[in-house]
Amino acid sequence: MPDNPAAEVEFPVTVPPKRAGELLVLGIETSCDETAAAVLSGAGSDGGHAPETRLLSNIVLSQIEEHAAFGGVVPEIAARAHVAALDGIIKAALQDAGVELPDLDAIAVTAGPGLIGGLMAGFTTAKALAFGADLPLLPINHLEGHALTARMTHGLAFPYLLLLVSGGHTQIVLVRGVGDYERVGTTIDDALGEAFDKTAKLLGLPYPGGPNVEKAALAGDGDRFPLPRPLKGTDRPDFSFSGLKTAVRQAAQSVAPLSEKDVADLCASFQAAVRDTLSDRVGRALDRFARDYPSVASPVLVVAGGVAANSFLRNGLEALCREKGFWFVAPPLALCTDNGAMIAHAGMERLLAGLTPDPEAVFAMAPRSRWPLDESATPVVGSGKRGAKA
Ligand code: KG4
Ligand code: ZN
Repeated sequence: MPDNPAAEVEFPVTVPPKRAGELLVLGIETSCDETAAAVLSGAGSDGGHAPETRLLSNIVLSQIEEHAAFGGVVPEIAARAHVAALDGIIKAALQDAGVELPDLDAIAVTAGPGLIGGLMAGFTTAKALAFGADLPLLPINHLEGHALTARMTHGLAFPYLLLLVSGGHTQIVLVRGVGDYERVGTTIDDALGEAFDKTAKLLGLPYPGGPNVEKAALAGDGDRFPLPRPLKGTDRPDFSFSGLKTAVRQAAQSVAPLSEKDVADLCASFQAAVRDTLSDRVGRALDRFARDYPSVASPVLVVAGGVAANSFLRNGLEALCREKGFWFVAPPLALCTDNGAMIAHAGMERLLAGLTPDPEAVFAMAPRSRWPLDESATPVVGSGKRGAKA
């Protein structure tokens, strides 16, 4: 398989809409533990301004219960669950939107990065549907879906900064245009959501860990345990969370057996360390953006990914943005976490930008478990090693 099949096959082709002025795109997402499909209607874009879109349906089936007993996502179980659910979810998305397959202008499907079994289930289904209905198939990078969501929800113009904090990725991305991304910073080990999940596990809190750590922290004292602020003060806005998780383990061992109060204090201290670290790392990226784009009058930071649900961290980021003169944009949570709408939207942006791939090459291509958004970024040892969630 070539290094970047989608990049290789891309060439501009214009797809004329079936209805005057309106394009309809079905989006399919199966890269981790959500089986999702959505139909998006859209029109017009001059490449800079966001297209005008209407979300006609958005169906997300979470597999959390299937994986909870194992304390994390089990790839084999995820792939089987996608296969079992996909047809029904796609049918429901079309029905909810009041459209039928031949009404569509294109099908967009996540082609990576993620768990290969789930990606294959989604990609194969999308290929079959597109082939049967004679529709263009758009292979979408899942991270591009996250990166462009705020154009659908807030109509943002380029450029802007994105902080993606999920179970599988922690990155700061400079979004310059459709297909034009620069990874400004990344984790050099664990993703932030992963650090939350592992911290929860070692403190005996249930899966998924993030929301439970946040809840426990509400009753805790964030100053009780002095935990490290990894990479704080370094020049490149990268992240590191595995040492923090180890420090939580050591702090827990030092006071074991743990009382409810100990757990609350450990969670609060962990969150305080994360908030400080995010402010420092993201703060540097904001400074750099302000320096590089002095003509952008209202610079924007967008957050996406499951960890963006955390109010304590959000408040910290909001305060940072206020201090630095940035607009803080958080799409509604349902569109921040994995969904089909963001894939449909990325497909729509690509259609409107004339970035439609050669059909024969798409049908010959295979999905990729690893697929960096910024192909020119130097690989960072250990980053995204789980490759499961994005
Ligand atoms: O984006 P997402 O739903 O799925 C992918 O990773 O693709 O993110 C899930 C991650 C999990 O690690 C979960 O623990 C974390 O987001 N998360 C949270 C919160 N809600 C979900 N982390 C911290 N605080 C939360 N309230
Ligand atoms: Zn994701």
